[in-house]
Amino acid sequence: MKYTTDYLREKWIAFWREKDHTILPSASVIPDNDPTALFHNSGMHPLVPFLMGEDHPEGKRLANAQKCIRTGDIDEVGDAVHLTFFEMLGNWSLGDYKKEDQIRWSYEFLTDEKWLGLDPEKLAVSVFAGDDDAPRDEEAAKVWQSCGIAPERIAYLGKADNWWAKGDIGPCGPDSEMFYWTGDKPAPENFQETHDDEHWVEIWNDVFMEFNRTEKGALESLPQKNIDTGMGLERTVAVLNGLQSVYQTYAFALILEKIADLAGKPELAKNPIAKTPEANSARIIADHLRSATVMIGDSIIPSNTDQGYILRRLIRRAIRHARKLGIQGSENESFGFCNSIAKTVIKKLSPYYPGLKTKESFILEELNREEAQFLKTLEKGEKEFEKLVSSLSRHPEFISGSPKSCSSSEIPKQVRNDKREGVIAGSDAFNLYETYGFPLEMTMELAEEKQLTVDEDGFYKAQELHQQKSRAGAEKKFSGGLGDKSEETVKLHTATHLLHAALRKVLGEHVEQRGSNITPERLRFDFSHEEKMTPEQITEVEKLVNDAIQADVPITKKEMTVEEAKQSGAIGLFEHKYGDKVKVYSMGDLSKEICGGPHVEHTGQLGSFKIKKEQASSRGVRRIKAVVGN
Ligand code: ALA
Repeated sequence: MKYTTDYLREKWIAFWREKDHTILPSASVIPDNDPTALFHNSGMHPLVPFLMGEDHPEGKRLANAQKCIRTGDIDEVGDAVHLTFFEMLGNWSLGDYKKEDQIRWSYEFLTDEKWLGLDPEKLAVSVFAGDDDAPRDEEAAKVWQSCGIAPERIAYLGKADNWWAKGDIGPCGPDSEMFYWTGDKPAPENFQETHDDEHWVEIWNDVFMEFNRTEKGALESLPQKNIDTGMGLERTVAVLNGLQSVYQTYAFALILEKIADLAGKPELAKNPIAKTPEANSARIIADHLRSATVMIGDSIIPSNTDQGYILRRLIRRAIRHARKLGIQGSENESFGFCNSIAKTVIKKLSPYYPGLKTKESFILEELNREEAQFLKTLEKGEKEFEKLVSSLSRHPEFISGSPKSCSSSEIPKQVRNDKREGVIAGSDAFNLYETYGFPLEMTMELAEEKQLTVDEDGFYKAQELHQQKSRAGAEKKFSGGLGDKSEETVKLHTATHLLHAALRKVLGEHVEQRGSNITPERLRFDFSHEEKMTPEQITEVEKLVNDAIQADVPITKKEMTVEEAKQSGAIGLFEHKYGDKVKVYSMGDLSKEICGGPHVEHTGQLGSFKIKKEQASSRGVRRIKAVVGN
């Protein structure tokens, strides 16, 4: 195999270094200040402020390989091209070099023997056809022709193909894409007519990022004309080697070998693109655990919200498919099946992403813990699921249609579409989630295998009801509704706020209140966090709270709208209807929280703070009992 991911990455970096670019390390997969996205999904994503005009400390010419996660098409993983984790090679001009330089360099990198040395006869390009937003890109076409691309190999395409935007709002612009012919026959001459042929595969995108789409949908010019380019590493390596799939490249070879080995099925590694259910499972495991390893390497831990939930889905889906291959996994928290795969991933990727090596033991521990936790309930959950299925299948038409052996097209239509008979109720799906840790998407996948569907809306309704109940419970015991308003209880209420803020500082922003109960003797605080706190963490939290008490800062109260409270960075149960105005209590720099009160006037009144107990409360929730006093 001439091209490997390491080879292409190295060539990329050497090329842009030669063109005076600074090579940046990959940013984490978690965006810093972007509430619109859970993950970085392209190389430009971490660079948005600089594309918008801010000065980058490393200059105006940048390049790198960026870790990206795209989970929009998670259900398609297992086919030839979709990956949830991939590396994107990118280079950027922040208002420095221009379209012409970029196109010349693109051609040089692709065709020059010193770099990729591709046959120009197999290349074609597309440019923007023009509309009200930007003109037909004759300029780009001209430069491509002067490089040696024949005019017939240039297609003019519209916004759907040749306009790149990070999302609905933000930087965007027309682009020019490069395609490589992968067919056995010689490449067709006319690209405008044949660009839809699946043998033309896109390998690189040069975006001329000159605009910003505002929230109102207007297009404004950016202060500088940027270049933003992206080449999907794994996919391009497959294409350049004449392979049909990323799973046939060295990026996956060792991982698939490991899976084949564990399953005792050598064919899974020998023919990674087989269309069998088993090969599909192997590809899903390989992709998902590669992603999971990288995510945990960037400090995401499995949980029920945001990135943590996606991670949990990936790991659990991988485990379920591993069981289909006869790989058992382990309920032992110090050894699991996911580990064997993760070690292979780390070995392969850590030379370029050294954080994976330094975080190796953390990654392995988190995977072990999630695997053990899931396996403890998986079997019971599966039995519960089977019970549900057989209760549904008792419908007479199912029995006569012998659902076990028929494909969905053979199930009588009226049964398939019958909400009551072919559908798993939302409350049942929620029970599988809440009690057995089955992510909704997993229940849906299991249901599909049985030609059933799940009432998704019903699931969310059941979830909402559950949340309302626990919220109501928490509130009865908490803010505005303190059991009593004795001096001690109020002090402990204030201490609860300081504790909440300190936990978020020490453990991370995934910490959210899950419940609170205060008596004059002690506070009890439940919060989202997976692991047992270490003695060091407990000491650190106590210290933060005691420092705030020592500082004896006044406690201030301000009324504002929920929107203003959010803007001000206050924490609290936003989704709850507090009415138009809420009260926000601030305690020095440490805590700002929506709450009904009451609180003491200054923190010094608490005397001192001590954590008495830290223990598990329920899945993913820890409980602290603490006291204050002089
Ligand atoms: N930002 C462009 C892409 O991701 C280069 O395709």
